[in-house]
Amino acid sequence: MEKARSSPPRRVSLLQLVVAFVVVGWLFWPKVQDDRIPKKQVKESYLLALLDNKADEWSKKYTAEAHLPGTNYQLVEWTESKMQEYGFETTIDQYDIYVSYPNEHSLKVLANSTEIYEASLKEDELKEDETSSGPDLVPTFLSYAANGNVTAEYIYCNFGSVQDFAELKEANVSVEGKIAVMRYGGIFRGLKVKHAQEAGAVGALLYSDPKEDGNITTANGYKAYPKGPARNPSSVQRGSVQFLSTLPGDPTTPGYASKPGVPRTDPHGSTPKIPVLLISYKEVEPILHHLNGFGEEFGEHWQGALSGYNYSIGPRPGVELNLYSDQIFNITPLWNVYGQIEGVNKEEVIIVGNHRDAWVKGGAGDPNSGSAVLIEIMRALHELSKSGWKPQKTIMFASWDGEEYALLGSTEFGEFLSHKLQKTVVAYLNLDVATTGSILSMGASPLLNSVLRSAAEQLKYPNSTMNLWEHFKQHNDEIAYLGSGSDYTVFLEHLGIPASDMSFRPAKDGPIYHYHSNYDSYHWMSTYGDPGFVFHNLMAKYLGLVLLELSETETLFFKTQDYAVALSGYFEKAAERIPESWLHRKVHVDTLDRNYDFNQELSNLKSSKHMLGYALGETSRTCGRKHKPIAVAELIDEVKKELESFSVLSTSFDDYVLKLLYYWEHKEDLWWWDRIKLHYKIIAVNKRLKYLERNFLHCEGLKDRSWFKHIIFASGRYTGYKGQTLPGLQEAIEDDDFESGVKWLEVIWKAVRRVDAQLDH
Ligand SMILES: *[C@@H]1O[C@H](CO)[C@@H](O)[C@H](O)[C@H]1NC(C)=O
Ligand SMILES: *[C@@H]1O[C@H](CO)[C@@H](O)[C@H](O)[C@H]1NC(C)=O
Ligand SMILES: *[C@@H]1O[C@H](CO)[C@@H](O)[C@H](O)[C@H]1NC(C)=O
Ligand SMILES: *[C@@H]1O[C@H](CO)[C@@H](O)[C@H](O)[C@H]1NC(C)=O
Ligand SMILES: *[C@@H]1O[C@H](CO)[C@@H](O)[C@H](O)[C@H]1NC(C)=O
Ligand SMILES: *[C@@H]1O[C@H](CO)[C@@H](O)[C@H](O)[C@H]1NC(C)=O
Repeated sequence: MEKARSSPPRRVSLLQLVVAFVVVGWLFWPKVQDDRIPKKQVKESYLLALLDNKADEWSKKYTAEAHLPGTNYQLVEWTESKMQEYGFETTIDQYDIYVSYPNEHSLKVLANSTEIYEASLKEDELKEDETSSGPDLVPTFLSYAANGNVTAEYIYCNFGSVQDFAELKEANVSVEGKIAVMRYGGIFRGLKVKHAQEAGAVGALLYSDPKEDGNITTANGYKAYPKGPARNPSSVQRGSVQFLSTLPGDPTTPGYASKPGVPRTDPHGSTPKIPVLLISYKEVEPILHHLNGFGEEFGEHWQGALSGYNYSIGPRPGVELNLYSDQIFNITPLWNVYGQIEGVNKEEVIIVGNHRDAWVKGGAGDPNSGSAVLIEIMRALHELSKSGWKPQKTIMFASWDGEEYALLGSTEFGEFLSHKLQKTVVAYLNLDVATTGSILSMGASPLLNSVLRSAAEQLKYPNSTMNLWEHFKQHNDEIAYLGSGSDYTVFLEHLGIPASDMSFRPAKDGPIYHYHSNYDSYHWMSTYGDPGFVFHNLMAKYLGLVLLELSETETLFFKTQDYAVALSGYFEKAAERIPESWLHRKVHVDTLDRNYDFNQELSNLKSSKHMLGYALGETSRTCGRKHKPIAVAELIDEVKKELESFSVLSTSFDDYVLKLLYYWEHKEDLWWWDRIKLHYKIIAVNKRLKYLERNFLHCEGLKDRSWFKHIIFASGRYTGYKGQTLPGLQEAIEDDDFESGVKWLEVIWKAVRRVDAQLDH
């Protein structure tokens, strides 16, 4: 019960007023004081530090010795010591992860049970290339391939895609009990193995076909590496054959971190049960020659560029492969290294990450071009800090371990700190293969498009009158969307954190990049890939500017309209594919209450144990109401209407944010009280921007792969690397699964309504 107020009103004295004024001023004034170094000057000093280019030195260091996941602790310590030298606070973060290491292997051809050929399964040692020989060479192997010794007839299965196996089936070619020989390209290698296994193959062999190399082949008169730009015929592509689009991270700890003592499950949900080897084109030729004239021949799309083989698929009766692969499976420590510099605002964090583990001693492109650039960015920030600069947001650099096997280090980190990361991380900026050529290629969450563009416009493209953005636009229509295959995956697709990935790739007729081969070496990089380390340097400038724009701009450098435009485009495309037969069927749908209150949700979350994005979906469901049944066509129109609102609201929201930024940049003209008000308005819009992407998470995740929570972006289920937009809906359409299609329409509708409520300030 409330007590009635009985005391008489008191008069406020002048003294009290003055005191109140001073207290308010003392409390709030520092928040709007601005003694920071102007952004323009920060960026100039940063670029100045990169006039000096040390990428070459770091590349040489990282490419000198083998560093498979969970090995080479000296390199962990060296990375940490560089971070410390540049003034970052460091942590070495250990996870205990299920991995495999090479032991023994062999591959033989048998004719009528007599051995007629044995492949060496080795890359040639080149005297020009120091790290292509020596006692610590990494054998050619595919991590997570099962152990086994199988002898069977073999057939050529093209790229090993779902369509390829469907064609085989249609032609009544049985893969059951056979060894599937598949060429690299098209889709992620682990999914080739998954498809072969599902078709009944007992083993698989992956090879690099010269067709991948376009015009730059020895058949076309180019000399092979090290004498020229074409592929060395003995080169192979090592790699992981885990099932990337099912589950990244430790295959024995799906969805949770591999810290000591956690329970573990059977890894075969996301790793193969059959043995798999890999081979060069030089060594596969004699194997495939035996198939000439046996079995079916499919069309042009099954043709590679091997000589003397016309791509008939076999099998050839009496001709078999004996494929033996043995690896050591183990649970072993892996180490991420972090270097952090605290920002003025500790509640907003930007993470820049790159993995450190490599398939070979060298790995000058993958990942050490990224590692070298990471160190360069830290070095330049250190120079900057000598002038007294401190970032506005906390910046964290991560050197991940085990990316090559299954995005291990980053995924376990994301799973371990999911809650904290969702609350604090503004953006994740990924590097991996930062440089193997001169053509910029990028993928990102649409929220980051504007900052990627702005930073690119500020840099000159080497030997050209173009800026970096103009160069990019010359080669690309737009910034791509992300799929998977690198460490951004957990951030965007599991946690709903905007992420980007960027890389300079070989030009169309540029030197062939020897991906995951011994020839991805310092020698290749300094002679063919990036002589002078010019594009390493440009990448350090570019990613650093993106980082500084994000950190130093008072309002978050996100443009929500870019998201609205992209999402409308994805939905239009998906809607066109919805089967006619669905449109008139009636369905009951849940709708979101119009009284949805973003601030209320955020404050509910403070006490909630749910992950942020999932919880946003969760709580809004409780205020849903049943509607009368509507036709699917109407539901589609409702989604479109909501997307139109998104477009309108995002335009006015972005304008409002720009207006606030303008006032902030001219705050000297404001009365102190207005400055304080402006400060709090900016906090409010930044909160909405920061959490916008989280709205696109769905707590149950995608069908048959619940780890993937993002409803707009996922790794393509049959492709792996390549992304799929609106994956739930698109897969339901592909599968002609009506129930699931309706469910995903509803999920998308609700997510857009939440975003609209959030932008409707
Ligand atoms: C296997 O033996 C049969 C019967 O002797 C013969 O016809 C066939 O050519 C042999 N196959 C090969 C690949 O040598
Ligand atoms: C693999 O199998 C073949 C044929 O069955 C056999 O001759 C060979 O010794 C086996 N290799 C190993 C390492 O077990
Ligand atoms: C495959 O086998 C089925 C059933 O035996 C047959 O109807 C069909 O014509 C065969 N297809 C081809 C391409 O041989
Ligand atoms: C190969 O060269 C031809 C002729 O110069 C050109 O038209 C074609 O685009 C090139 N192909 C590739 C993949 O670079
Ligand atoms: C493929 O090669 C075999 C053996 O050389 C030959 O019999 C067959 O006719 C060839 N097929 C085509 C389509 O060239
Ligand atoms: C730029 O031009 C100079 C002079 O022609 C040349 O030496 C250098 O290699 C070029 N750099 C790049 C990155 O193309």
